[in-house]
Amino acid sequence: MLLNRSITTQFTIVFIVVLLLIVGSFYLVLESVYHSQLKAQAETVADNVDAFGSWVSQYGRVWVRDNDKSYLGQVTLVNAPDPAQGAPAADAAPPALWHFYSKNPALAQREFSEVVEKSASPAKFRVTSHNFMNPVNKPDAFEAKALDAIRSKHLAEYYEMLPDTYRYARTLYVKASCLSCHASADNAPADVKVRYGTERGFGFREGEVAGIISVRLPTRSFWSVATGVIGPVQIALLLSAFLVAILFIQFAVVRPVRRLTAAAGRISVGEQADLGVGRIARKSGNEIHQLILATERLRASLVLAIKRSRRTPPPE
Ligand code: HEC
Repeated sequence: MLLNRSITTQFTIVFIVVLLLIVGSFYLVLESVYHSQLKAQAETVADNVDAFGSWVSQYGRVWVRDNDKSYLGQVTLVNAPDPAQGAPAADAAPPALWHFYSKNPALAQREFSEVVEKSASPAKFRVTSHNFMNPVNKPDAFEAKALDAIRSKHLAEYYEMLPDTYRYARTLYVKASCLSCHASADNAPADVKVRYGTERGFGFREGEVAGIISVRLPTRSFWSVATGVIGPVQIALLLSAFLVAILFIQFAVVRPVRRLTAAAGRISVGEQADLGVGRIARKSGNEIHQLILATERLRASLVLAIKRSRRTPPPE
């Protein structure tokens, strides 16, 4: 039984239990702070991706020169000399041909995400859809799950803490401006059909879920965070706290109780015992002082009773 153990042992066990409870509550607090921090970070990334898409869409498309790796439309400009400057000389070089390639917001966002993917930035992202136009944008397992949950439960966002990544998805809705390309393959611009075919990425209606901005952040396990935070100094402080508490229990409780027990033992066999009453203030709030004062009164009454019993002869 725990209650039959010494106060020092009981106190040590209580200290450990209390310590575990405090560590547990700290863990829960830290975990929720960490999660809300990760979510805020992921939201910022999604905001930036969204803002970049808006930058492209305010021009409809952006055009780049001489890079045909990934584009939607293409035009060629003839860089002819200005006729106002007069007719070109007979031996002038032929006019240069400038090839321009257009990028719509989703395509520009994909290129942006590919650059970030190769960069040192720990936060990665992509734009994906259950009905993707470009197979490169096919959702992965988390993204498919997020899209299912978002579409069936009408969520504006979805997130999950996986073993070593935090995954976040923000819903993108179909707006009227998206329909020119995503409504039906028949009405889509020719360059979209030529590059992406007519099978996927069409059939959207206004207000529906178009896809998600998917953000991926690396996370650290509790143990790696804990071992990073707890070092020899922290352990030394914890041991000092235990030492202070155990010394207090020793000097304030265990030793006075032991002394009192020894004195009470001597009193019980009629020996002299110094309870140290002289050193105690009558009104002391210390419970052990009060116990000593009560024992002193008990001793005095005992002495008196013995004296009286010696004076009166025992009844015949
Ligand atoms: C000019 C035609 C055009 C318009 C307008 C357009 N898109 Fe797209 N969208 C595309 C093309 C092309 C892709 C494929 C880009 C790539 O290669 O990654 C795409 C890709 C996407 C993707 C990524 C998944 C996939 O299909 O590959 C999402 C999500 C998306 N669009 C949503 C939208 C939304 C929402 C709007 C309106 C705000 C919109 N799109 C407007 C042409 C368009």
